[in-house]
Amino acid sequence: TQSVKLVAGNWKMNGLGASLAEAETLAKALKEQAAACRVALCPPATLIDRMAQALEGGVVEIGGQDCHAEASGAYTGSVSAEMVREAGAGLVILGHSERRAGFGETDADVAAKVEAALAAGLEPIICIGETLQEREAGQAVEVVSRQVAGSLPASLAGKAFAVAYEPVWAIGTGLTPTLEQIEEVHAAVRAAMIAKLGEGGRAAPILYGGSVKPSNAKEILAVAEVGGALVGGASLKAEDFLGIIRAA
Ligand code: G3H
Repeated sequence: TQSVKLVAGNWKMNGLGASLAEAETLAKALKEQAAACRVALCPPATLIDRMAQALEGGVVEIGGQDCHAEASGAYTGSVSAEMVREAGAGLVILGHSERRAGFGETDADVAAKVEAALAAGLEPIICIGETLQEREAGQAVEVVSRQVAGSLPASLAGKAFAVAYEPVWAIGTGLTPTLEQIEEVHAAVRAAMIAKLGEGGRAAPILYGGSVKPSNAKEILAVAEVGGALVGGASLKAEDFLGIIRAA
């Protein structure tokens, strides 16, 4: 019952205007040889508008990396879901571990942002994942199940969204879980999604993220319940990202 996979690139706080050339190279390659999966790039908020215009045509979808839970107001430095949408994004990453750890975002905060994203017509990519300490304590499944229960509002049932399992210790480290560990956690995430959303939790893809690169993408994307990838470092260069896209 696997549908088309989603391969999303998260540029994080990397990329200035000149980096749009990489995105354009990617889009050009995908126009010449279509991908078998959905492809998205999530640049810094300041680049969403320009990237959306540069990549007009839709072979590469555009996403934000975060949004505020409120629709508008006195929240200096923040952008709302509606603003992300208006700039040209169709997706938004929410609850990335770098926001949970660095900005203190809780599951409840993430759930509120998901509600805002849905209200703005954005497709949320909701990130979860255990720390190394939790992994070593044998708590990975327990942690991600709790994060799914807390970060996915009931209103997600039947909506377009994705969950991204990103073990914190695998992000930017070159380390990845074994394929068996990925399969185990993805199965647990699916069970938690169904427990929370009923049948509405069955269709959304569960992406894997954390040190995905062209050389390991194929085996990871072939694991049961891996519905795509959330790629950090390897999404910054069109050639690397294409290597992953071609593996999906
Ligand atoms: O959102 C993407 C992830 O944090 C993965 O980053 O591919 O550089 O390990 P990475």
